Amino acid sequence: MFLMAGLMLLALGCTEKSNTYNLVPYPQELSPQSGAFKLHEDTKVLYAGGENTRFVAQSFADFIAPASGLQLSVEAAPNAKAVIGAILFVEDKAIDGVEGSYKLQVSPRGIVVKANNPVGLFYGFQTLRQLLPAEMESKTQVSDLDFSIPAVSINDAPNFSYRGLHLDVGRHFYPVDFIKKYIDLLALHKMNVFHWHLTEDQGWRLEIKKYPRLAEVAAYRDETLVGHLGVGEHKYDGKRYGGYYTQEQAREIVKYAADRFITVIPEIELPGHAQAALTAYPELGCTGGPYKVAKKWGIFKEVYCAGNEEVFTFLEDVLLEVMDIFPSKYIHIGGDECPKDRWKTCPKCKKRMKVEGCKDAHELQSYFIHRIEKFLNEHDRDIIGWDEILEGGLAPNATVMSWRGIKGGEAAAKQGHNVVMTPNTHFYLDYYQNDPKEDPLAIGGYLPLSKVYSYNPMAGELSEEEAKHIIGVQGNVWTEYMPESSYVEYMTYPRACAIAEVGWLPFEKRDYSAFAKRLQGHFKRLDVMNVNYFDKVLMPAPSVEIVEFIDEGVLELTDNAVAAALYYTTDGTTPTAASSPYQGAIKVSEEGTIKAVAIDARGRSSKVLEVPAKRLSFIEGTASVGASKGVEVKLVKGEFATCKAVDEADGEMLVMKGITVPESAGNVHFGLAFEGVLSIDQDGLYQFILGSDDGSQFLLNGEVVIDNDGYHGMRYKKASLALKKGNYPIKVLYFEGGGGGDLRFALKDDQGTDMNLNSCLSH
Ligand code: ACM
Ligand code: ZN
Repeated sequence: MFLMAGLMLLALGCTEKSNTYNLVPYPQELSPQSGAFKLHEDTKVLYAGGENTRFVAQSFADFIAPASGLQLSVEAAPNAKAVIGAILFVEDKAIDGVEGSYKLQVSPRGIVVKANNPVGLFYGFQTLRQLLPAEMESKTQVSDLDFSIPAVSINDAPNFSYRGLHLDVGRHFYPVDFIKKYIDLLALHKMNVFHWHLTEDQGWRLEIKKYPRLAEVAAYRDETLVGHLGVGEHKYDGKRYGGYYTQEQAREIVKYAADRFITVIPEIELPGHAQAALTAYPELGCTGGPYKVAKKWGIFKEVYCAGNEEVFTFLEDVLLEVMDIFPSKYIHIGGDECPKDRWKTCPKCKKRMKVEGCKDAHELQSYFIHRIEKFLNEHDRDIIGWDEILEGGLAPNATVMSWRGIKGGEAAAKQGHNVVMTPNTHFYLDYYQNDPKEDPLAIGGYLPLSKVYSYNPMAGELSEEEAKHIIGVQGNVWTEYMPESSYVEYMTYPRACAIAEVGWLPFEKRDYSAFAKRLQGHFKRLDVMNVNYFDKVLMPAPSVEIVEFIDEGVLELTDNAVAAALYYTTDGTTPTAASSPYQGAIKVSEEGTIKAVAIDARGRSSKVLEVPAKRLSFIEGTASVGASKGVEVKLVKGEFATCKAVDEADGEMLVMKGITVPESAGNVHFGLAFEGVLSIDQDGLYQFILGSDDGSQFLLNGEVVIDNDGYHGMRYKKASLALKKGNYPIKVLYFEGGGGGDLRFALKDDQGTDMNLNSCLSH
């Protein structure tokens, strides 16, 4: 009994130690100190500074009260010097540092938080919050609560000024209390923007006094798609669905966020994703309707008419009310996924194009956005929009949200525009984070925590000067497949923790395994906050799906789980914690199966990853070099669901240097078939990489080598082939089915070096 107690204490001691500074995001500079400061009923919360400083001090005391039962007194400090036994918040304009920076000293004698701005003091408070025991998050009193804050010295500052999280309330609607909880979680992670996506084809969610039918009609759909948009026949649930936020509720949310130094950026989508608004006011569409609030997901052709003056009157009226509710400097105007079909045949739109000298429909969209920008600029606001607003010419003061990868962001930065990076490759939290067979339905993709964390916003092709236009990062939560708020949390956390840290710490200071360890402790806080975060031990991620080799092959593993160690076997047995620990690339020279697991700090094991190892035989080329450089490309406009359908369709023939989407393909709904001869000048193992959004296939010598077919977000697949020197007929099939579109094809040689495809293709 005695011994047991001793052992338990020891065990507790160990966890305590490793979990002392579970800060997310981790501070830029932290030096552990010894001892701890203990709160008690006489602890004073002092402030030296203006009203906002008092407000932060009071917020801290208010945070402490429910769980601890302590009503700490909040008083003006006699001076800005530390007081024994007190927690002091000091605003001092003389302190250097960007907005949000702060210095925190915790010693057994007292606590001092200093910043040149109340935002920094608020972040100092959030750090103190995370240093306190997780139970302090409880909304009811907790007995035997340990009130100590470990001693520490912190000098901290955000790396990016914009650190955001988005929420789509158009596809599904969530209660005000959930929105507040979402915002409080942002505050806990020192994020400062809540991007509120308020209007969609499937529902308009903000009361507009001048246009009551937006709440009465546009906020409700007759029924909702059951299952995935891209799978099987479409069925509906037969239930009317909807809701909206009153202006009073929206103001309450703006204040709740402002009290946490968070800006709410409202998004009013235009000119596309407007079918709900058109249902309420059909005269604003090119055809005049009638329209129906959309009941399935996707991209719809019914958009605001760009030739009708009433549309601009409507949008300006709406934006006036929006500006009155939301003090944010930025107003998000959407701009994404706007099909131009209606505009091309609408007499009003055609007339507008003529009068304004627009040479194509992209320029008409650009006219639309310019005009809305001008209106908002006149009211001292700036626009921010999705990267499609680059098409047809960017409005002069626009900030761009780069979502279709980073291309749009880079192009905007090169033009001197500010950019928020929110690439779907790393920051789309609607993508799966687990095996789809084991998780509720999601839109698609695969984006584990480790990949979110690995994102480096500065890694692109920008000069130092251009890169300064990247003002920050944001995670997006599109909710087509998230009918429940608990499922929003499941998809958002802990991936949003990783986004918070990407926004806060420069790449060089980030370390996934340290982050994952801190998360283990941080989860306790999220538990008390009742957050339904994702917490499964994911299998290790393999560098290749099959190790294909001629003499010797290599498999690398990445930890996709949180704080796991990886173990593997090569003899076919199931790996356990007693198997070989993974310590870098596994080399194989025999055929067989490599099996690996992740085992986390709590001893939980992932499922077993199985990677076959296969010796390849050489293939010989069956073609001869073509007479001309480049490849032949067939371009087919229209909707496709498979590569086979693209292959069989008739289209327009082009010649291109390499395998990329030609500009003439447009934005949505087209297919491409590339055909040519690949010349290989040396025997060896070659790796082909095919990435696409949506489907694609790669064929060599008439055989499918990579099958990346079907509707999906950006997804890469690889295959290796042992090729003899020679000429190989190749084919790449691709279709864009709506939403983001992209095609990437690459080839690596034996050494893993990218080959210049343009010089080895002919037809
Ligand atoms: C977007 O995901 N359509 C911005
Ligand atoms: Zn029109």
